[in-house]
Amino acid sequence: MKFMVYNVIESEIPFVKKWSEDNAIEVDFTDKLLDINSVELAKNYDGISTLQLQPMENELFEKMHKLNIPVLTIRNVGTDNIDLVAAKQNDILVTNVPTYSPESIAEFSVMMSLYLTRKAGYMQDLLHQKHQFHNEDHFIGKLISDMTVGIIGTGHIGRAAIKLFKGLGAKIIAYDKFAVDTDDGDIEYDNDIDELLRQADIVDLHVPGSPDNYHLINRERLDIMKNSAILINTARGSLVDTQALIYALENSIIAGAGLDTFEDEPGDILDTKSNQTLNDPNIIALAKMPNTIVTPHVAFNTQESIENMVNTSLDNLKTVMLTGTSENSVN
Ligand code: NAD
Ligand code: COI
Repeated sequence: MKFMVYNVIESEIPFVKKWSEDNAIEVDFTDKLLDINSVELAKNYDGISTLQLQPMENELFEKMHKLNIPVLTIRNVGTDNIDLVAAKQNDILVTNVPTYSPESIAEFSVMMSLYLTRKAGYMQDLLHQKHQFHNEDHFIGKLISDMTVGIIGTGHIGRAAIKLFKGLGAKIIAYDKFAVDTDDGDIEYDNDIDELLRQADIVDLHVPGSPDNYHLINRERLDIMKNSAILINTARGSLVDTQALIYALENSIIAGAGLDTFEDEPGDILDTKSNQTLNDPNIIALAKMPNTIVTPHVAFNTQESIENMVNTSLDNLKTVMLTGTSENSVN
């Protein structure tokens, strides 16, 4: 058996090589994205691994079927860019890496929250715009231990975030559409998302970017949030109506936002070799505000994540080859 890894990034290569040696299975890699042209590179291979936000649709799966490649594993969690029905119709099994490091994303949400609650953006602004380096009255912050944190989506990452915010002493309230039983006795679950939005000082999103969740946070929902509240989105850009968010930030309807994901993310956002400059006017507008922190879809990016993403995705391919299925199958 042999596998092809697409869109490999530098930090993944040592782990790909090590997995190949440890398992005595040939694994080749390319920095190309997987698409209907590049898939030809995987001719005579048994499985494909990729890490990309670009769409994977019917034509790609038809071609994989013709090339007799029965399995695609992504090295990440979110499957919103994949037509899973088309994959199934073409007999392609798709697997993901559901828990490569929920803590990595949760820590990033906490980092963004602290940056905003301690007004770090205003300090950076003063320093970089005016080269001034002193305290100001409006730099006064507020403790997270005195705040209510509303977690929307209590899956792997949401629960990791709950642990961290609890560690900071926050009161946690949570909402999950498919409310799961948790052993976290002191979390207040509310089956009304609007009630959570009314109460929370920090609203932290951890739900998938499914069509059902498109603009989950819209103008009306921003309106019912506290004027002092901050919104954190390390999940998917499609969850938040960007225009409504910009309006809410510009008009003090909410106090700040931490954003690692965006609607219509630039195609090169995960490309570590890209030298393109940002030209999305919405991201530029958000990035210029002192009450935001804007990052290029990097919440996942820790050494722990990278190792687990590579190993689990290649394990997935091997397991499918040996058993015909995988516990990480998503279709
Ligand atoms: P998960 O499947 O473990 O949990 C998602 C939870 O959301 C589930 O409990 C589900 O019931 C709930 N849910 C779905 N729709 C909902 C809604 N409308 N309201 C409330 N709850 C809802 O997924 P996870 O591992 O926690 O990951 C969450 C998302 O984070 C992923 O789908 C992915 O889009 C994103 N993500 C981002 C990064 C990054 O680097 N920024 C990295 C990994 C994952
Ligand atoms: C995910 O795992 O779903 C992410 O958003 C991380 C990214 C590398 C695609």
